[in-house]
Amino acid sequence: MSDLKLPGAPYIGYKNRKLMMEEVALAELIAQYGTPLFAYSKAAMLGALQEYTRAFESRKARIHYAMKANSSLGVLRVFAQSGCGFDIVSAGELAKVLAAGGKAEHVIFSGVGKTRAEIRAALEAGICCFNVESEAELDIINEVALSAHTVAPISLRVNPNVDAKTHPYISTGLKDNKFGIAHNHALETYKRAAKLRGLKIKGIDCHIGSQITEISPYEDAVSRVLDLVDSIEASGIPIEHLDFGGGLGIDYSGETPPKADALWRRLFELLDARGYGDRFIFVEPGRSLVGNAGVCLTSIEYLKEGEHKNFCIVDAAMNDVPRPAMYEAFHAIVPLQQDNQASNTVYDIVGPVCESGDWLGKDRTLNVCVGDGLAILSAGAYCMSMSSNYNSRGRAAEVLIDKGNIQLIRRRETIEDLMRQEL
Ligand code: LLP
Repeated sequence: MSDLKLPGAPYIGYKNRKLMMEEVALAELIAQYGTPLFAYSKAAMLGALQEYTRAFESRKARIHYAMKANSSLGVLRVFAQSGCGFDIVSAGELAKVLAAGGKAEHVIFSGVGKTRAEIRAALEAGICCFNVESEAELDIINEVALSAHTVAPISLRVNPNVDAKTHPYISTGLKDNKFGIAHNHALETYKRAAKLRGLKIKGIDCHIGSQITEISPYEDAVSRVLDLVDSIEASGIPIEHLDFGGGLGIDYSGETPPKADALWRRLFELLDARGYGDRFIFVEPGRSLVGNAGVCLTSIEYLKEGEHKNFCIVDAAMNDVPRPAMYEAFHAIVPLQQDNQASNTVYDIVGPVCESGDWLGKDRTLNVCVGDGLAILSAGAYCMSMSSNYNSRGRAAEVLIDKGNIQLIRRRETIEDLMRQEL
């Protein structure tokens, strides 16, 4: 691979001017499967997972992949086979985990709006823990558990009120977010939970936001959560596990977030110093396990000169890669073949959807022709899982690359698929 370091390296990079994922030239994938197409590197996912497992060697800990980041069965299977647990937020996610071979007893259930039916399904499956986000939810889980003659394992998601220093839409640990139970109400809520016969208190949980690129918000969260554990246990309620959520960021445009093992080396120093180093630790990473492992491949349909801007119109759109439209997020976009014959031009890279918000990259310098392929990088997380059928566009296909092997894990949606549910 060449020296140019792209997000996703070393699993993604140029070799003889061709963009490769592991041992596969991405242009060949397009020829075989068409575009838009998501491609994922299995080695990149396992490499990211290893950074966590290395951090937890000789500790009591479990990694719960936050599957909202990418819930395709082929991706879930990689993590299930590696012994991961899963963080879910719906009955649909529970069903997918089980279909992919995940173990119910390694599933934790987050989210502010669990329905009675979802709670019942999770109890029947025998999940590890509900991360409860309000007092009202405690009562509902208690009620559903009692009516099913069982006891629901729970942990309270507390809101530590720390600033994750990330985009406001993906920051979740501040006072005015809808998530979790306020820090100063947590003790009281634990005491109330302890009196409910349908509940068994297992742990404490927090998640402060996503795409976090610094260690300090985690340090703050750990110390705020441990303050609470001190007082909860002093009131006679034992806490078995400490769940610090997900949130670790990835490289989109040269960010250098800490590696999971470096982050956790530091956090274990804090835990050890306060005597909590031998507690069972849970984490819920999503983006940092899959984000840099995936790309979205797209073909250039038109090059259009506008009065003030040039547009590179591609066949992927906001329905496939929604992050730029939703958060003005940056994804690097690179050609599948380097140095072709066109000249460098500055383009807005846009899709065919009828919205001005349908852009994938702004002011990007490219040397490309109609028909060329492009790769939208760092697209393994929160792209396919947030994709839609807007403009009646079928969803993209997905392939999993394992060295030289290519496995189609989702076929492209057809016109029939688009109309299947309608009466
Ligand atoms: N645990 C909980 C309770 C969460 O709400 C989330 C993400 C995670 C774990 C995983 O966080 P991660 O490790 O992936 O940062 N769609 C947005 C991101 C939304 C994150 C929602 N919660 C985006 O595209 O940036």
